[in-house]
Amino acid sequence: MTKVLITGSAGFIGFHLAQLLLAEGFHVHGYDGMTDYYDVALKRRRHQILLQTAHFGATEALLEDPGCFDAAADAFEPDVIVHLAAQAGVRYSLDNPRAYVDTNVTGTFTVMEAARRHQVRHLLMASTSSVYGANTALPYAETHKADLPMTIYAATKKAGEAMGHAYAHLHDLPTTMFRFFTVYGPWGRPDMAYFKFVSAILENRPIDIYNHGDMYRDFTYVTDLVRGIRLLIDVPPARPASPDDIAAGDSLSPVAPWRVVNIGNSDKVRLLDFVDAIEEALGRTAIRNMMPMQPGDVPATWADATLLHSLTGYRPQTDLRSGIAAFVSWYRAYYAL
Ligand SMILES: NC(=O)c1ccc[n+]([C@@H]2O[C@H](COP(=O)([O-])OP(=O)(O)OC[C@H]3O[C@@H](n4cnc5c(N)ncnc54)[C@H](O)[C@@H]3O)[C@@H](O)[C@H]2O)c1
Repeated sequence: MTKVLITGSAGFIGFHLAQLLLAEGFHVHGYDGMTDYYDVALKRRRHQILLQTAHFGATEALLEDPGCFDAAADAFEPDVIVHLAAQAGVRYSLDNPRAYVDTNVTGTFTVMEAARRHQVRHLLMASTSSVYGANTALPYAETHKADLPMTIYAATKKAGEAMGHAYAHLHDLPTTMFRFFTVYGPWGRPDMAYFKFVSAILENRPIDIYNHGDMYRDFTYVTDLVRGIRLLIDVPPARPASPDDIAAGDSLSPVAPWRVVNIGNSDKVRLLDFVDAIEEALGRTAIRNMMPMQPGDVPATWADATLLHSLTGYRPQTDLRSGIAAFVSWYRAYYAL
């Protein structure tokens, strides 16, 4: 049975991915440092649920702890590594840039080294739509230039893509980089806007709406996202014999078994419509605090998901209203409201 090592397994996406893979019979080892960027109790609860499943084991340590990740990888001997652990968040990166370099650059390097030593069948690593930065061509396609990051978060994720390319090239390590777009759903991240909106509306506190609501995001429901990851596990890139072998629209490197793939819903939603949908699901009206644009933010993200579809036959399919309703119902149950 395929053994998959997931970093960030107590995180939002890692938890959902582990659940999906375990349900399909994979053996999974989770690795997570339980950082206190947001509520650690929520991370522990996610891990507790996973630990009730056969074929799941976990290591609790930071990627930067010398030797810890190597020891976990050596004991488990993974066939595949999915690297999701990161210091995430655009706004936090404005005040805490070092955390991003430590986890997203040094930590990612540790993961790549272990992947090389074990010659894993496929290394898959999370990047972000934020790497499109100052690119204004919409929808964002993987073949667009994405060389102008606007935050240190985006810059460290872009560094991860570049380091991944070098290792894929040097060590013949099949590597897929995902670019995720705003991911939401049950067991979500308390630092993200939709989570803050729901808790504020339920407590009658105002919500901050940036750029006066004139923002667009490609919201991706977490179940759709992890299904995309699952399918991509089976599609390791192969080094092309010649650049002419690369299909139009494919981001496959001409010199390495490496590609980058957007996983997004391919639908750009106006922030104010998103707030309307949350109000509808809660049956309450928000107190709206209109704010200017935040430094480092971009007015719109929108995924071209053609490549994901051509590689896997899959398109994300959850509509916003059902996704928000599922989140709200999880939120009420989790916080016993
Ligand atoms: N959620 C989104 O909307 C979104 C969008 C774009 C990209 N991403 C990327 O997807 C990945 C997963 O994101 P998520 O939303 O699940 O975030 P998350 O914060 O819920 O999960 C990340 C996990 O990594 C762990 N971690 C952080 N630093 C670590 C370190 N140094 N060593 C070991 N573990 C560490 C954290 O404890 C956490 O449990 C990240 O790489 C993130 O950058 C997420």
